[in-house]
Amino acid sequence: MSTPAMLITSRPLDEYCQLFGLTRSELSAVPGPVLDCPGGAAGLAAEAGELGVRVIATDPAYAAPLPALTALARAGRDAMAAAMTATPHLYLSPRHLPYDKYLRSWDRARRLFAADSSAHPERYVAAALPRLPFADGSFALTLSSYLLFAYPALFPPAGQLAGLLELARVTAPEGEVRIYPLHDGTGRRCRHLDELRAALGRRQVSSEVRRMARPGDGRTRRVLVLRAADHRRRNGRQH
Ligand SMILES: C[S@@+](CC[C@H](N)C(=O)[O-])C[C@H]1O[C@@H](n2cnc3c(N)ncnc32)[C@H](O)[C@@H]1O
Repeated sequence: MSTPAMLITSRPLDEYCQLFGLTRSELSAVPGPVLDCPGGAAGLAAEAGELGVRVIATDPAYAAPLPALTALARAGRDAMAAAMTATPHLYLSPRHLPYDKYLRSWDRARRLFAADSSAHPERYVAAALPRLPFADGSFALTLSSYLLFAYPALFPPAGQLAGLLELARVTAPEGEVRIYPLHDGTGRRCRHLDELRAALGRRQVSSEVRRMARPGDGRTRRVLVLRAADHRRRNGRQH
């Protein structure tokens, strides 16, 4: 079986809110910076910036020049269009969300990303899990969509655990990490999620699988939510 190529995708803020069970006002009320890892060519940092929310997006693809990155994101959008036609059972029915409207929302997000990363390059940090260049507890909320569980061929269980621990490390103890999806690109659920959660627990990271309403068809999404114990306690240091 060949390894699936990783797409650079460009979801807008509203799709992030739906994936992670957030409203715009809840996002605006987050008491500190938000991390988007991986940021891809998403509109989150740009659109949240307009709402007064500071989002840092991080992704190894940010090391590439912007025109190359946006061309890859355009190819990612075209690959998504093809996938929606070829495997419609994996996506929300067009009765609930017409495909052309959905893809236009990605086009808009990609344009916002391109403009914002030129205007505010400090919001876009080139880095890769499992090692991020941020201090412990830097973020009040960390969102991670379509990476660790979406590409299990690229992230075997040990890589998933290392990535999850790193996301927890850079998130404040009173904050949360939310991860979606918990299945791969064919819809197959992660079979070793319980073992991963047990390993996280041994490293002082608590977890829950939260069911979030999926607008449109009344089904639910499963989102992994992590909370790290105080980092000084985790590292065994004195307060
Ligand atoms: C499918 S996109 C998801 C982007 C965005 N979160 C979204 O939902 O639209 C996956 C992204 O993960 C990035 N990526 C690949 N390896 C990574 C790693 N080790 N750490 C962080 N991001 C990575 C890729 O460059 C790509 O932009």
